[in-house]
Amino acid sequence: MVFQSGMTLTEFRKEYTMSGLRRRDLAADPFTQFQKWFNEAVEAQVPEPTAMTLATADKSGQPSARTVLLKSFDERGFIFCTNYLSQKGLELENNPHACMVFFWKELERQVAIRGTVTKVPRAESELYFQARPVGSRLGAWVSQQSTPVSDRAFLEEKFREMEQKFPGENVPCPEYWGGYVLAPITIEFWQGRVNRLHDRFRFTKQTDKMWLTERLSP
Ligand SMILES: Cc1cc2nc3c(=O)[nH]c(=O)nc-3n(C[C@H](O)[C@H](O)[C@H](O)COP(=O)(O)O)c2cc1C
Repeated sequence: MVFQSGMTLTEFRKEYTMSGLRRRDLAADPFTQFQKWFNEAVEAQVPEPTAMTLATADKSGQPSARTVLLKSFDERGFIFCTNYLSQKGLELENNPHACMVFFWKELERQVAIRGTVTKVPRAESELYFQARPVGSRLGAWVSQQSTPVSDRAFLEEKFREMEQKFPGENVPCPEYWGGYVLAPITIEFWQGRVNRLHDRFRFTKQTDKMWLTERLSP
């Protein structure tokens, strides 16, 4: 494929030269390492540092992926919020295995986390919901996420209805909206290097407090 500029797709390739990742730089546990890299992404003003690709799969193993925002992370795992009746929600209901991938390109870094997802307690979902701007809360009432709609006017009309139903700031959290926490089984930290000899370290959970750390071939 050649673009108007005369460029071909392969010319977009980039050398990664910014830094390296050595075993001695790694924290003993991947949560501390994630916190460190996340802080560095924020300091580097990576746009939308919480944005990541979330992959799920249906019962037959057919995968699907989309971008979602990380809401929080703690010793339980990595938390995102969504519509429980969306495609991803229904897939997770039947198959709780999921993977999230952060690409912080300004730092030439990728973090890939695989694990198992459960719903967070209801009260916690409500806190995340109430932290959203009122328009986004109304939007959650409007959207039967991932189902076909006739046109945009339908959505805008439903939004007006919801504004009337929930005037002011008091918009409750729909039953079908809430958080999931992905409890990690593996977390891989990837730092781009020259000549495609990237640094990759994978933490694999052994017990609650023990992680195996291995360097992977790029
Ligand atoms: C930057 C960005 C952030 C997004 N954040 C979320 C999110 O936090 N939760 C969510 O449900 N959808 C989010 N979306 C929309 C999803 O990518 C997706 O379209 C939606 O969740 C429906 O996915 P599904 O049909 O695979 O379930 C975001 C999209 C983008 C581009």
